[in-house]
Amino acid sequence: MTHQLYDFGMIGLGVMGRNFLLNVADDGFAALGTDINEDSVKALNTEGDGMNVKGVNTQKEFVSLLSKPRKIMLLVPAGKIVDKVIEGLLPLLDDDDIIIDGGNSHYDDTNRRYEYLKTKNIRFLGTGVSGGAEGARRGPSIMPGGDKSAWEAVKPVLETVSAKVNNEPCVTYIGESSSGHYVKMVHNGIEYGLMQLIAEAYDVLKRVGGLSNKDIGDLFDQWNKGRLSSFLMEISADIMKQPDDKTNGDLIDAILDKAKQKGTGKWTSQTSMDLGVPVPTIDSAVAMRGISSFKSYRSQLASTFPETHPNEINANGKGLIEAVEKALYFSFIVCYAQGMHLLAEASEELSYDLDLEGIARIWRGGCIIRAELLEQIRKAYSAEEGLKNMMGSAQFAGSLATTRNSAAEVLRLSMERGVSTMCLSSALQYFDAFRTARLPLNMVQGQRDYFGSHTYERIDAEGTFHTEWGK
Ligand code: 6PG
Repeated sequence: MTHQLYDFGMIGLGVMGRNFLLNVADDGFAALGTDINEDSVKALNTEGDGMNVKGVNTQKEFVSLLSKPRKIMLLVPAGKIVDKVIEGLLPLLDDDDIIIDGGNSHYDDTNRRYEYLKTKNIRFLGTGVSGGAEGARRGPSIMPGGDKSAWEAVKPVLETVSAKVNNEPCVTYIGESSSGHYVKMVHNGIEYGLMQLIAEAYDVLKRVGGLSNKDIGDLFDQWNKGRLSSFLMEISADIMKQPDDKTNGDLIDAILDKAKQKGTGKWTSQTSMDLGVPVPTIDSAVAMRGISSFKSYRSQLASTFPETHPNEINANGKGLIEAVEKALYFSFIVCYAQGMHLLAEASEELSYDLDLEGIARIWRGGCIIRAELLEQIRKAYSAEEGLKNMMGSAQFAGSLATTRNSAAEVLRLSMERGVSTMCLSSALQYFDAFRTARLPLNMVQGQRDYFGSHTYERIDAEGTFHTEWGK
């Protein structure tokens, strides 16, 4: 008896895996899934009833039902589980089969797995998938890196299931080895920055401007129709307006102010330090998640240092709203600029040979950081060969110049009122530092040479110098 063979397999049928697979089936491919949790397999079979999709309970049956070369995506929690699933699969696979790790794996792990699987004649794609559960179901942005021939083999499926912007699929081959996961990691770093910036804008509007949750929600909706149009702005508007069943108030007020993190933002900061490419808005966003977790200590300090109102706020409601919009727009550009700059440097340092225009293109739809701005970012990288940091590009220089002072004004007001705006402020500081031709780091060099004989360079002569300071 011959069985139907399936085009695409998924291991890990949590909501992401299940939705991704249903999306594959929607698009006319025969889709097969498995999971160690039988309830997840059942859920797939129920949700996929009447579609060309099937869930099975054993890996053996799963592998035997896939057409060759097998295309198997893993959507399981990053870390040791990925290795465990790969080890379980290996004895069942044939040469040239393809494993796609669709989770948020660390790029070091992806490099290791890529090299290891090469020795086993298995083709590996470390693949970033963005868009959450809804994106997986309706069309995510997909960032595959690794074996190029494996990409060619899975391209028809991934292109079909991905989000589309102007009919262009939000997926492209990113490059060799771990480049796909590296790019997804930086995507998440930008995501952290944008999320925290919006959170700070909400805080300023509420605590400095005295706006209600509904007013802020309406404002975010309105901003989402303009130049701040983005997925995160859209969902933040919804969040502001979500009622709370338990208190009859707004849910936003009932949510504990402790943000969790799985690590991708932190990894972005770590690699940025390794490469010497500053991303302070992303660092600050990671720091704010950390600070948020110290809830009881914060509560203690809040009573030690109660809120003060040193000056009357001289921005009237409308003035503040316009200034916050400009500050947010300014900071969004800066946050993307930091991530893109990191990718530009990583492309050289890690030999990824990244196509930055292509990355901006596939981030325009499907993923969490999709935004109107990404089309402009794409244009900036298309217009200027070798562009690294986009702040000075023709696309962005004018907008930054006209919004910078509003960011400063919002910061002045929030500082007076004691409303923490770590990311907004780091965005402004980053921009101002980059536009300063002479920073006071000559002092730091002097200090280093003073206490450690680390030498310094001079502005008027070649070479390195050391001074016997104070003598
Ligand atoms: C996406 C998201 C997704 C996930 C984050 C959450 O692009 O779809 O980034 O991958 O929501 O990993 O990360 P934290 O738990 O670190 O906030």
